[in-house]
Amino acid sequence: MKIAIIGGGYVGLVSGACFAEFGTTVAVVEADPGKRAMLMEGKIPIYEPGLDRLVAENAAAGRLSFPATLEEGIADAEAVFIAVGTPARRGDGHADLTYVFAAVEQVVLALDHPAIIVTKSTVPVGTGRKIKELAHRLRPELGVEVASNPEFLREGSAITDFMRPDRVVVGTESERARDVLRRLYRPLYLIEAPIVFTGLETAELTKYAANGFLAMKITFINEMADLCERVGADVNDVARGIGLDGRIGRKFLHAGPGFGGSCFPKDTLALMRIAEEAGAPSRLIQSVVSVNDARKEAMAARVIAACGGSVAGKRVAVLGLAFKPETDDMREAPSLPLVAALAAAGATVVAFDPEAMAGAKALLPAAVEYAADAPAALEGADALVLVTEWNEFRALAPERLLTLMRGRVVVDLRNVFDPAAMRAAGFAYHGIGRAEGVAVREV
Ligand SMILES: NC(=O)c1ccc[n+]([C@@H]2O[C@H](COP(=O)([O-])OP(=O)(O)OC[C@H]3O[C@@H](n4cnc5c(N)ncnc54)[C@H](O)[C@@H]3O)[C@@H](O)[C@H]2O)c1
Repeated sequence: MKIAIIGGGYVGLVSGACFAEFGTTVAVVEADPGKRAMLMEGKIPIYEPGLDRLVAENAAAGRLSFPATLEEGIADAEAVFIAVGTPARRGDGHADLTYVFAAVEQVVLALDHPAIIVTKSTVPVGTGRKIKELAHRLRPELGVEVASNPEFLREGSAITDFMRPDRVVVGTESERARDVLRRLYRPLYLIEAPIVFTGLETAELTKYAANGFLAMKITFINEMADLCERVGADVNDVARGIGLDGRIGRKFLHAGPGFGGSCFPKDTLALMRIAEEAGAPSRLIQSVVSVNDARKEAMAARVIAACGGSVAGKRVAVLGLAFKPETDDMREAPSLPLVAALAAAGATVVAFDPEAMAGAKALLPAAVEYAADAPAALEGADALVLVTEWNEFRALAPERLLTLMRGRVVVDLRNVFDPAAMRAAGFAYHGIGRAEGVAVREV
């Protein structure tokens, strides 16, 4: 079987490499000339653990290619996956479908056979039906069928998530599309991954409902963290205490600086708009969006309070910039408003991230300094702010910090350090939701 994937970003590249690993012949079509040139030379434009090896092996085996033209990519493809971006539209928060419809139009006009068009991009309810209408209007003779196959992978563990998914969701009204997707995902039958077949609208909504629910879980534990600080409780223990209940589950209960990334912020916003327009507004999702936005904005005040009310003239080491570990993705990262506000408040910010510094430079104030590694960032720092919990930061012992830093303030926005060890070493330690932390009234 041969398939094409339109868009060689995080999702397109990972899906393409994994489908190829399953034995399918895959062409990934990327519109950005710079990214395409890199891919054609065997270079990977993003950081995702294990992806370089998987791409290299499948390209060498002849199963994965990055053609120069769309026509070449979709030739003989039984299914064409749309994996382009669907960012939040400026102003109203709706998902911007410009790239999706542009890609569909290009594909439909270039097809010479009735391929299945599958949306892997996260698209609002009703998009699949509009794609079908567009395809039938442009090329009524082709008989294009559509399906929705939302992607649930997480950056940082994308390959495992794709190869061993909790489930695959396929929404379609076409028996032919169901058959193509069933064959494509057949290798997953061996590991008994359930495939949930639904209608188009159901599959589209399932993706938003999943992200909305997970964003709500994070926001819930963040609110509990604020409450813990007021009442003398520890949010890590609360999370464990509730998470061990099978009805609740332990995942996505890590208190922190608010969620960011390429999906939750834009998908909660889009879900809010979808629900409003459908006449069934979601007050829960509205609250998740506003509580999370306020939380990210409030993190700088937390750091400033921990530094005694002012960071003017102080050297603040920021460890971690990416929105989470094991990725270089800076989209909607909590570090962005935090670092900007610290710099505006007069701090000298010295940042380090193992993978995201190149992307961060374009988004952060010009005055921010970038260190070659964590110890270099900490050298002479008045305060340490841990923003992204890369494993290498977990190993920073208080004794080591004592030798590097000038000041004794540690703000741990991910609760990775041992508060007792930090305090025993003489640090003013501020975690999230850990009783002795700084109470923030703005949130
Ligand atoms: N990143 C994630 O973790 C994740 C997880 C699940 C779902 N999704 C969804 O998947 C979709 C893609 O996300 P992403 O993070 O991979 O985006 P991305 O921005 O990393 O990649 C999109 C790619 O598509 C390319 N592109 C745009 N128009 C094109 C066209 N007409 N032809 C060929 N290439 C084109 C862009 O140049 C870009 O490289 C979004 O809808 C997102 O919500 C993302």
